[in-house]
Amino acid sequence: MEEALKKKFEKGPLNFEAYFSEKALKMKASEIRELLKLVETSDVISLAGGLPNPKTFPVDIIDKILDEVIREHADKALQYGTTKGFTPLRLAIAEWLRKRYSIPTSKVDIMVTSGSQQALDLIGRVFINPGDIVVVEAPTYLAALQAFSFYEPNYIQIPLDDEGMRTDLLEEKLRELKAEGKKVKLVYTVPTFQNPAGVTMTEERRKHLLELASEYDFIIVEDDPYGELRYSGKPVPKIKALDTEGRVLYLGTFSKILAPGFRLGWIAGEPHFIRKLEIAKQSVDLCTNAFGQVVAWKYLEGGYLEEHIPKIIEFYKPRRDAMLEALEEYMPEGVKWTKPDGGMFVWVTLPDRVDTKLMLEKAVKRGVAYVPGEAFYAYRDVKNTMRLNFTYVDEDKIREGVKRLAETIKEEL
Ligand SMILES: Cc1ncc(COP(=O)(O)O)c(C=O)c1O
Repeated sequence: MEEALKKKFEKGPLNFEAYFSEKALKMKASEIRELLKLVETSDVISLAGGLPNPKTFPVDIIDKILDEVIREHADKALQYGTTKGFTPLRLAIAEWLRKRYSIPTSKVDIMVTSGSQQALDLIGRVFINPGDIVVVEAPTYLAALQAFSFYEPNYIQIPLDDEGMRTDLLEEKLRELKAEGKKVKLVYTVPTFQNPAGVTMTEERRKHLLELASEYDFIIVEDDPYGELRYSGKPVPKIKALDTEGRVLYLGTFSKILAPGFRLGWIAGEPHFIRKLEIAKQSVDLCTNAFGQVVAWKYLEGGYLEEHIPKIIEFYKPRRDAMLEALEEYMPEGVKWTKPDGGMFVWVTLPDRVDTKLMLEKAVKRGVAYVPGEAFYAYRDVKNTMRLNFTYVDEDKIREGVKRLAETIKEEL
């Protein structure tokens, strides 16, 4: 026995990497995330996070609902559910989409997912072949790139301006591709209060995007986690509400309007698409957390969500204002930033020569952190941008953080 043990140790440790699949070998942890982890525990003011503020979680409402869920719905809440989701919740979501966004839900099916993050992965599974052309905004949501990249698409980046995706440039690109005999499969957009840029696509561009989808025959993924968090300006119709051909898959989530811990989101789309997504989900997790779904159903059905959204807005708006004011006050000439009407982020662009990834360490030494913009580009080809979050820290800290950041930038220029 001892001899056998000795032999085992003589063999040395396993070559762990040798067991991974080729795809797993391509997955890399982000070095920035590692650095930012350290920041969370120090007294650095972190404008880097992407978290909703826990003070916006409707704890009292959840407390009340939980009691009812346990007393009256334990059979459903503690049981496996169907892959597509808890039917009363799906109906309540459909009603929300119809009433609030005028999405004609008679032609739409809904599947509940484990956050919209899972929806992104399922969309990758169901729609992306290796080499398929996927259009993303530049910049775009980092974790969508991570989700899609597993399925090995070819990305095309379309720049954003203050009115969202430059659909004129998309049109040019589509023409070029057509001339080469190529086709776009899918366009991914976060059209409202974009992560990371904070900008919103105008109604005109939304319509243009749909026209292009029809002419060049692609599908659109409209990812909308922030749409309800509007602090100023007028609502813009959802792309899905303007979709007459069933080309749009609309992603929603409870993460920013209830709490992300529930891990609850949904996909609304053409029943034929949803059916395939449902089959794809079966092998991933059988069904989304049933307990959370029953809670979310009560939250919607009881009218609590409608009541709670204005409170979240009231909480975040002064923070957004504080950040925009501080940027105006402290930033040196040559620095530009977006002015979001909602959501959680401001996007800052520095003069070309500044590499925000290299600057991060200096900023952290001065006591402030941000997310360097590079990782939000499919081709990591832009170095002089950063994302700032205004929902997590309070107003005084936002002002102080922006001041420290401005000092760091001045030193760099
Ligand atoms: C644009 C975008 N899509 C999807 C998600 C994922 O959200 P969920 O918590 O629903 O998985 C986020 C989260 O921050 C996001 O910003």
